[in-house]
Amino acid sequence: MTPDMHKQWFHTASVYHIYPRSFKDASGDGIGDIQGVIDSLDYFNDGTEQSLGVDALWLSPIYVSPGKDFGYDITDHKAIDSLMGDMDTFETLLAEAKRRNIRILLDYVPNHTSDEHPWFQESRKSRKSPKRDWYIWRDPSECGGPPNNWLSVFGGSAWTFDDSSSQYYLHHHFSFQPDLNWRNEEVQKEMLDVLRFWLDKGVSGFRTDAIYTLIEDASFTDNPPNPNYRPGKDDPYLSLLHENDLGNDELYAAIGMMCAVLSEYDDAFMVSESYVDVPTLGRLCAACKDGRHAPLNFSLISLPWDVQEYKKHIEAIEETLNGHEWPNYVLGNHDRRRVTDRLGRERARLLAILQMTLRGMPFIYYGEELGMQGADIADTDRKDPLSALLPGLHMGRDKERGPMQWSGARHAGFTKGEPWLPVAEDYELYNVKAEEEDPYSFLSLYRHLIWYRKHSQALSSGVYTSLEVGSGDVLAYERVAQGERVCVMLNFSTEDRDIALPFEKAEVVASTHMRKEGEAVECARYRLRGYEGLVLSVHT
Ligand code: NOJ
Repeated sequence: MTPDMHKQWFHTASVYHIYPRSFKDASGDGIGDIQGVIDSLDYFNDGTEQSLGVDALWLSPIYVSPGKDFGYDITDHKAIDSLMGDMDTFETLLAEAKRRNIRILLDYVPNHTSDEHPWFQESRKSRKSPKRDWYIWRDPSECGGPPNNWLSVFGGSAWTFDDSSSQYYLHHHFSFQPDLNWRNEEVQKEMLDVLRFWLDKGVSGFRTDAIYTLIEDASFTDNPPNPNYRPGKDDPYLSLLHENDLGNDELYAAIGMMCAVLSEYDDAFMVSESYVDVPTLGRLCAACKDGRHAPLNFSLISLPWDVQEYKKHIEAIEETLNGHEWPNYVLGNHDRRRVTDRLGRERARLLAILQMTLRGMPFIYYGEELGMQGADIADTDRKDPLSALLPGLHMGRDKERGPMQWSGARHAGFTKGEPWLPVAEDYELYNVKAEEEDPYSFLSLYRHLIWYRKHSQALSSGVYTSLEVGSGDVLAYERVAQGERVCVMLNFSTEDRDIALPFEKAEVVASTHMRKEGEAVECARYRLRGYEGLVLSVHT
């Protein structure tokens, strides 16, 4: 299937990821909420190119939760947490978003529940509980201690002992997030019904949490040691090779079940969280026969700053996901340092161009479009329980979850109360209001790229081809569709680079630097500034 045959909304959509606690607080309690998102909808699309132009919003969890992992520990999958609002407010969000042609995607957390979920409360009552098999319980190993050597993603054993029944339960994440047993048919039915519940309300799909930990090896065999592990340097989770606890073959059947539910609806779609290599991305995509599932591609979060590495990655994606499967690129999320904090703002601008001009779905993490950086978080302000679990090794994920910067007003206009996390120090420079007035701001660059992409056949669905332009520091490629040709050049060096473009006439579409849109370009010899990214429309 050629890319031009992709006709579904998700094949041309740009998606914006909202961490609702930090986006906009309408109630004044210092925590963002659904009403805050409703109040911000014009920012996303007011029908003009003065708005961002994204097509879909993905909301991190808004369900009832004790909030120990800020919503990823759910006690009721079908109800809205009172901190976030209520079902009426959510339905208003759906209706108001639809009016603006914006789709809503929800987070779906099938791997685990909160330990306060009524299912787990029942399950832990006794070995004979009718819901015992809904979670994964095992006897201690023969020598006592956990049933095997599996580790939790967040540190320590993946097993916690339950005194009252003298068994261990499995949790790939925090101990308060017991794993559901996806081999149990009642669990499958309940969790698939969760999808139907929200699809019936009108959401367009989901971002599925922690999919790769969904089903483990049924014999619960130990994981082998990782010979390359560097004690004291690497995350202890990497001390083992995760051969038996991740990505079990049955996972693909479970994804297939989810996709079968999606297929009951015209245009439902799902992305999923899985930090895996490109071949596995391909395999995960293929688990859904009709292309309704795309595992999120996090590779750009960890690639070294090297043109060849980027080129290799993009070409691998092109080769692997070139048919029914649809690529996507992520620069950051609520679990990883912001792109600006990892690489600095100049490189982040280059990557904005990269992400918006590659084939596939761009995912924008809130604030990325402003060049937002994280605040320095004092030890006493830390909220993520991860900092306490991996002291010295992990500073927690608070830095990437700070309040959205709306203006230069107090608390960046995020709340009238006291924000749950501190606002970044430089919010007076990097905020929506200030950047709207600056044609060269991050926001102006993002808006321009998103709208241009929307109107351009070449960028939204054209084929990708790598180009050679005479400099090893420049990543260059073109996208072509129906006679339209767009060429992109990204100078990874701090120094200027002279390049030769393999065509005769072209004009500027967008640049990280101060170049005028429509300006003609000297193709035979062109000087790209240090860290300049340039998008050209080529005369064909
Ligand atoms: C991945 C989520 O993105 C993260 O925030 C969460 O802590 C874990 N899954 C567990 O749900």
